[in-house]
Amino acid sequence: MAIIAYKCPDCEVTVVDINPERIDAWNSNELPVYEPGLDKIIKKTRGKNLFFARDIEKQIKENDIIFVSVNTPTKTFGTGAGMAADLQYWEKTARQILENSQSSKIVIEKSTLPVKTALAMEKILNLAKGKIRFDVLSNPEFLAEGTAIEDLENPDRVLIGSHETRSGLKARQELVDIYSRWVPSEKIITSNIWSAELSKLVANAFLAQRVSSINSISALCEKTDADISEVAKAVGMDSRVGSKFLQAGIGFGGSCFKKDILNLVYLCSYYGLKEVADYWESVVKINEYQQDRFMANILGSMFNTLAGKKICILGFAFKANTGDTRESPAIYITRKLLAEHAEIIISDPKALKNAAFDLVGVKGSVKYVEDPYSAAAGCHALAILTDWDLYRKLDFRKIYKSMVKPAFLFDGRNIIDHKKCFALGFNVYPIGKPALSHFQPENNS
Ligand code: UGA
Repeated sequence: MAIIAYKCPDCEVTVVDINPERIDAWNSNELPVYEPGLDKIIKKTRGKNLFFARDIEKQIKENDIIFVSVNTPTKTFGTGAGMAADLQYWEKTARQILENSQSSKIVIEKSTLPVKTALAMEKILNLAKGKIRFDVLSNPEFLAEGTAIEDLENPDRVLIGSHETRSGLKARQELVDIYSRWVPSEKIITSNIWSAELSKLVANAFLAQRVSSINSISALCEKTDADISEVAKAVGMDSRVGSKFLQAGIGFGGSCFKKDILNLVYLCSYYGLKEVADYWESVVKINEYQQDRFMANILGSMFNTLAGKKICILGFAFKANTGDTRESPAIYITRKLLAEHAEIIISDPKALKNAAFDLVGVKGSVKYVEDPYSAAAGCHALAILTDWDLYRKLDFRKIYKSMVKPAFLFDGRNIIDHKKCFALGFNVYPIGKPALSHFQPENNS
């Protein structure tokens, strides 16, 4: 919404939320999310044509276009628990729009939703009396965290789905006109509403599938003398495959991939497509397998006992350049390490607050230390769990000196110079590459 306000100075954009504290945070100098470049855009637009307001009902009444971006977490109860999307917030919002509208509006699905959700929205909105009409569009968001501003300013594509009726096409055009202010017309694609909804789920499923594919091969590399970086490079240079999203690691996290795939799996099962559901579910299973493998490697390499050993976690965010820890592999791995009675020291430049929140109530010893050097001092092992750039530049000589020997280094993101760290004295365990260990003979089988 900040980008729309920035690119369309003649539009007035107001953001509302049921959480008043969050709105206050958006109105303060400390924004509630860390996203590179966002603060600058907010500074340029806030109070001019971008507003953050608490009065949801008034804003519904006064605005012509409503983007619905409420959360749609995985259902935790009843039919489809653990798979289907929980649409309660979505439906409540539809009812709230209906109750508070005194004029016709365009309602846009921005949240990622299962296919045919727009239909439910329409059914509720069509209860409107008199001359008020609602046109529901699907305009899924493809931005990635950490690069959100860049992705929004130069998107690969903008997708707008609508009914192909006269009023549906008119509403679609209104939204096309907004994006046309800064997005080249060939990148604004339109479709029917169901294709737009499904495309979003499938785009995320394809991206996650690439991560699981490369991670599955990393397991094979560790059993052979192959190196996953070399394999990924050779495979990715085929222009039909492409080089992006082939970085092996501890698995994907984030609020979207797992949720969206499970949603897709649920949809397929619902329509009786068991083989298709199983195929996509395996992407999530490989992701879990990769995290278990990483954990088993730590335990096995450190002589099958972690009790009382200090392990420094470098990076808790689900990826670099964000403080977001939702579904971060670091949560699962930390819990597993604590279950082995290891003592954990977590370091992260942006995610410590969220990390502490994620681990509330978990038994065991956990400390949070922002400075990586202080965090690593006195530890038996380092585990790099997030691909923060700053970890590439650390002085590992200094770190090695401050650690208990033998010192172990588990690079869950393959971002540091393994040979150099091995030469410094570390026993180094990358992903999908042979371990570099000073213990002889090493038995990796
Ligand atoms: C993802 C998609 O990339 C966006 O296009 C989409 O709009 C967004 O979800 C969404 O649905 O909201 P995001 O969750 O921000 O974006 O993060 P990604 O950059 O896709 O990374 C996801 C996870 O995969 C991270 O944990 C990352 O470390 C991991 N990953 C990514 C790898 O392990 N290897 C790779 O090569 C790439």
